Amino acid sequence: MLEKIEQLLQEIENLSVSSGDEVERLRLRYLSKKGVISTLFEEFKTIPNEQKRAVGQLLNKLKSRAGQKLEELKRSFEEGGDEEGVDLDLTRPTGQLRLGARHPVSIVRNEIIGIFSRLGYTVAEGPEIENDWYNFSALNFPAEHPARDMQDTYFIRQDPAILLRTHTSSVQIRVMEEMQPPIRKIFPGRVFRNEAISARAHCIFHQVEGLYVDTNVSFADLKQSLFIFARELFGEQTRIRLRPSFFPFTEPSGEMDISCNICGGKGCTICKYTGWVEILGCGMVDPQVLANCHIDPETYTGFAFGMGIERVTMLKYQIRDLRLFFENDVRFLKQFQGAI
Ligand code: PHE
Repeated sequence: MLEKIEQLLQEIENLSVSSGDEVERLRLRYLSKKGVISTLFEEFKTIPNEQKRAVGQLLNKLKSRAGQKLEELKRSFEEGGDEEGVDLDLTRPTGQLRLGARHPVSIVRNEIIGIFSRLGYTVAEGPEIENDWYNFSALNFPAEHPARDMQDTYFIRQDPAILLRTHTSSVQIRVMEEMQPPIRKIFPGRVFRNEAISARAHCIFHQVEGLYVDTNVSFADLKQSLFIFARELFGEQTRIRLRPSFFPFTEPSGEMDISCNICGGKGCTICKYTGWVEILGCGMVDPQVLANCHIDPETYTGFAFGMGIERVTMLKYQIRDLRLFFENDVRFLKQFQGAI
């Protein structure tokens, strides 16, 4: 009998299992009322008295060791998180992963940055909360000038004014105060205006501003740079035209239209049958603005331009309602999956 118990001890030490069910089967085999060990205890009653001491000790050892071992095996499955005792298959495919998409405004912003960086521009940013100097005064908007009405905004404090910037032109001033020419930079960012929200206007939108200041920068440079930009963004067939306009911080000022990329210039509802759509404001930096930033207007000239990213994105992707950009509806956003 001693031999048999030794053998079982060995067997139990070597037990290995691959599922929780198997542990349960082993428990029944060794430790249940009719199991191997109980049977041995029955047999124990019949052995000669002089053997009882040695066999009894070994039998008790077997029982407690079997209990320990099965407990260990059981725990190893629970820790694996597999309480059901189902085999863990690490090669099984997961549920479908849902990939996100970049927001169309980010896609087009990155594209604009890419085009201008190939023309030698680098990116700068400024704060969304501005004071009167950077948003208006340094840009030649006198205190009571009607040009301010077109850019009504949200005031955090009235006097002296702290406000949400109405355009990225404020970054022109911040950059020119910080450095002397040559300056060739673009400023992407969010801007704010007190606008009634509609399919064409919102109180929050995004702009990209460009600024180039150096010796001998001319209006021809402005026009050529913007022409290259328009063809890069909207395709080689794109034509541009400049119309005279007014901004307090550029002189002369213009607005640039591109030939309608929907109808190719023939006339459609997007271009209101004119064949042209407006995409940006631009002009030569007003000498007074250079002087405000301690740049000598006798030595340097420059040009600046600014465009609304939503507007450009609407034209590029034929999006008819500007509010879609801010609603974060996945049915809209997922259409841009795969675009970069
Ligand atoms: N800041 C102007 C706007 O928001 C655009 C602009 C920028 C015009 C630079 C001229 C030069 O409308």
